Amino acid sequence: MNVAANGWLPILMLAAGCTATGRGTSAPPPRALSAADEATWIARGRDTVAPFKSRLMAALQAGLAEGPDRAIDACRVEAPAIATASGGPGVTVGRSSHRLRNPANAPRPWVQPLLDGFITTPATAAPRAVALSGGGIGYVEPIVLQPMCVTCHGATLAPAVQARIAALYPADQATGFAPADLRGVFWVEFEPAALAPP
Ligand code: HEC
Repeated sequence: MNVAANGWLPILMLAAGCTATGRGTSAPPPRALSAADEATWIARGRDTVAPFKSRLMAALQAGLAEGPDRAIDACRVEAPAIATASGGPGVTVGRSSHRLRNPANAPRPWVQPLLDGFITTPATAAPRAVALSGGGIGYVEPIVLQPMCVTCHGATLAPAVQARIAALYPADQATGFAPADLRGVFWVEFEPAALAPP
């Protein structure tokens, strides 16, 4: 995974600071699958996330063509709907981050330790599948920032973008990213009922 090693120090220090206070709330790491099962579920997770990614990107690009303001609304309104449409019976899809814009995207308890691991050891930021305590399977996939993302997640935002984001997300933590930074994760939760072979 193309996560640049440089530029990580402030994030590492921040993450270390966070875990010191937040450790009590973090769930234990989910149980590992056998290598063969993990490979199977990574493949299924990837297939499930792929349309979510491409539809999100299409919505973003269509929005950006009409101006960043329109794109912010596209992201805010359409992202949750696209996530819902990308799941299915017993399959839930979402996005999360260690630096959230929308608190509604907070990591599920089983996602948190995997996300923490990617942040503290960027070299391990690769797709993972794990066994969940309720009998389901969880999939996570790192999201690496691309150049076009800095319009709304970079260190310096255009004043109109900054103002719109501040109005909609008063607790926004999702700026100051650079291309190749880890922005967060896509995740999929397969409930036990959805575990039949695809
Ligand atoms: C036009 C502005 C805009 C652009 C460009 C943009 N985003 Fe976002 N991003 C947002 C907004 C607004 C949200 C909050 C969406 C919501 O309310 O669920 C968001 C949320 C997210 C989240 C969910 C976690 C959180 O912090 O709430 C991730 C992950 C994310 N963006 C990654 C990206 C990546 C990767 C790119 C580039 C491919 C990108 N974004 C480009 C505006 C943008």
